[in-house]
Amino acid sequence: MAGSPEINPTVPHPARVYDYWLGGKDNYEADRRAAAEAIEIFPKTVQSARSCRAFLSRAVSYLAAEAGIRQFLDLGSGLPSVRNTHEVAQSIAPESRVVYVDNDPVVLVHARALLTGSPEGATSYIQADIRNPDLILAKAAETLDFSQPVAVMLLAVLHLITDAQDPAGIIRTVMNTVPPGSYLAIGHHTADIYPELREFARRMSELNPDFPATLRGRQQVADLFTGLDIVTPGVVQISRWRPESDLDAHAAAALWGGVARKP
Ligand SMILES: C[S@@+](CC[C@H](N)C(=O)[O-])C[C@H]1O[C@@H](n2cnc3c(N)ncnc32)[C@H](O)[C@@H]1O
Repeated sequence: MAGSPEINPTVPHPARVYDYWLGGKDNYEADRRAAAEAIEIFPKTVQSARSCRAFLSRAVSYLAAEAGIRQFLDLGSGLPSVRNTHEVAQSIAPESRVVYVDNDPVVLVHARALLTGSPEGATSYIQADIRNPDLILAKAAETLDFSQPVAVMLLAVLHLITDAQDPAGIIRTVMNTVPPGSYLAIGHHTADIYPELREFARRMSELNPDFPATLRGRQQVADLFTGLDIVTPGVVQISRWRPESDLDAHAAAALWGGVARKP
């Protein structure tokens, strides 16, 4: 991957820094240095990243097993990790169809690992920017049937979309395209739970000015679900969203999250 002109190994990138926190190997020295600095500022960083993956897994399980969803659009999917969306969904419903989207060229290099789904289902990967939702929707339509419900996943990515880039507008465009009965799942970084996140976000933004981080409060995250019916327990610290054990429920997590249904 070092030969790709699009990949700059000297600047820490959110996908690769996150990969390091999750114990992955697809990262460079600059990513590891940034990841270590973040841990110094917020010592629960690794636990929080793992809590986010656990939330993803519980949300997809809920959507596949309880809500009957068979199509997933995972925006800002990140590098392949443990319990990726298609693995969780297809373990419950092998016919599930999953489209991953990320704008990091390193994710593209590793996307093959995301595309080894069940023979009954389908998985595909689109390299695109979620700030261009129309393009994503047009490409995703090659795999997903937009006359049937779709779960749209936006986990640990919306803090990388500034207010000026209009995260609510992006969500509106996507949710206006999917039919009633579709779902939206969001996990969003915040400083409400751990104030150290402010310094964490400031330093990460300084290290890679292409990805300024915008932390949002609980009400701002709740507002992103406007027009949708929020599923119990609402917008909560992600570790408190339908935890499967006490360990889940008490895990550190610097994100608000929730799941909602389009009426
Ligand atoms: C912190 S990771 C989260 C990965 C995954 N959603 C999870 O929760 O485990 C954020 C991901 O969003 C991607 N990303 C950031 N900005 C993006 C954008 N504008 N369009 C598409 N992907 C983006 C990054 O490349 C990175 O892989």
